[in-house]
Amino acid sequence: MESQLLIISMSSSTVLRGRSAVVVYSTRFGTTEVVAKALERGLRGAGMQTVCQNSQDITPESLRRYDLICVGGPTEVFGATKQMKDFLKALCEVDLEGKFGFAFDTKLDSRLSGSAAKFIEHSLDDDGLHIAAPRESAIVSSRKEGGKIVGAVLREGEERRFEGLGMKVGTAAADEMAKMGDG
Ligand SMILES: Cc1cc2nc3c(=O)[nH]c(=O)nc-3n(C[C@H](O)[C@H](O)[C@H](O)COP(=O)(O)O)c2cc1C
Repeated sequence: MESQLLIISMSSSTVLRGRSAVVVYSTRFGTTEVVAKALERGLRGAGMQTVCQNSQDITPESLRRYDLICVGGPTEVFGATKQMKDFLKALCEVDLEGKFGFAFDTKLDSRLSGSAAKFIEHSLDDDGLHIAAPRESAIVSSRKEGGKIVGAVLREGEERRFEGLGMKVGTAAADEMAKMGDG
């Protein structure tokens, strides 16, 4: 009887401690989507309930239901794209104070590449989110035609690295939430 009670109380506390995360991404050629899905798998591996969506298919308001909000996009012209900037602008109208955030991007392997994640991280920070872990970049190489970038290829190993990163970010965020006393 005693052991049955223990099992019931353990499983209800596990449910109460369940955390949710959303990974929102934008993409032109598809590599940031691959990275976002890898991050999501890692977050799930850390025990979180997860959703991964293109920023075009999600309303900023709907992000209020998640504990951890991860946002990523491609680096273009040294920073975030207009699509991502517009999304972040709309996001700042939503009260996300006290939630956790994480920023990521895809970019070329160059000292001069700039970073969309830097812009995203600052924006999440300005919105009052706790940054769960420092921003990260997945490296791509670009495919050019006539001097124009027409495609991107993710560097080998980056998908796996982001899966591991998701696990770390999810664990770090859940630990911080528990420390803050609402676990
Ligand atoms: C118009 C344009 C501008 C770009 N500018 C940069 C840049 O300033 N720095 C950089 O690292 N990569 C730059 N890139 C390469 C992108 O980072 C790359 O295409 C992107 O990471 C691929 O992500 P996606 O597949 O999700 O679109 C640029 C690409 C395009 C199409």
